[in-house]
Amino acid sequence: MQPAFWMERWSEGKIGFHEGAPNAFLARHASRIADRRRVLVPLCGKSEDLAYLAAHDHEVIGIELVEDAVRAFFAEHDATPSITRRGPLAIYTSGAITVLAGDVFAVNEADVGAIDAIYDRAALIALPPELRRRYLDHLRTLVPSRTQALLVTLEYPQDKLDGPPFSVPETEVRALYASAELIDERLATGGRIADAGVSAIERCYLAAV
Ligand SMILES: C[S@@+](CC[C@H](N)C(=O)[O-])C[C@H]1O[C@@H](n2cnc3c(N)ncnc32)[C@H](O)[C@@H]1O
Repeated sequence: MQPAFWMERWSEGKIGFHEGAPNAFLARHASRIADRRRVLVPLCGKSEDLAYLAAHDHEVIGIELVEDAVRAFFAEHDATPSITRRGPLAIYTSGAITVLAGDVFAVNEADVGAIDAIYDRAALIALPPELRRRYLDHLRTLVPSRTQALLVTLEYPQDKLDGPPFSVPETEVRALYASAELIDERLATGGRIADAGVSAIERCYLAAV
């Protein structure tokens, strides 16, 4: 997807992916990463998961392309972040939450600092097939080898509907993350896919990046 696609989605308020509450899988399985202090949340939007993780004693580093989404996150949490600029990134920080506004592919290891875990909900599945391997390879440059990731994906018949969100079947998850362990799944309710009458399964994995 071109950046303009996401800019437009945010400016037109077409953000059906935004849950407005902590993700159910995160709430159920956050204990799996509880002992890992600094959590990277790529393609974070203005997700409540950022606040949920911070409330559970994590330091949170989000990455989001659309700066308006980043501003909205802090405004909706009555926070006045400090804002600094570093190269192509705008860095918003308030308390335990830092969000890097910019393209994930422009972020480097020094930008995110030491990372102990990754939380990916609707990030991998936001990317088209040709970008997903590149995304994983890039994540691997940002974090120590074997960093634990909590990963939330969606699987549905891709021929029935175009993404995003894209269907990322279990076989592909296992090709990207050799160690992926499926820890939860449920039928997706609501959202664009379910609304179109296409049945989809949300899956939650624990995997080493
Ligand atoms: C499907 S949304 C998921 C947002 C969030 N994870 C959530 O659960 O609500 C994908 C987000 O990734 C952002 N995004 C897309 N491409 C990106 C990129 N190259 N770098 C950083 N963020 C990107 C979009 O603006 C959008 O907010």
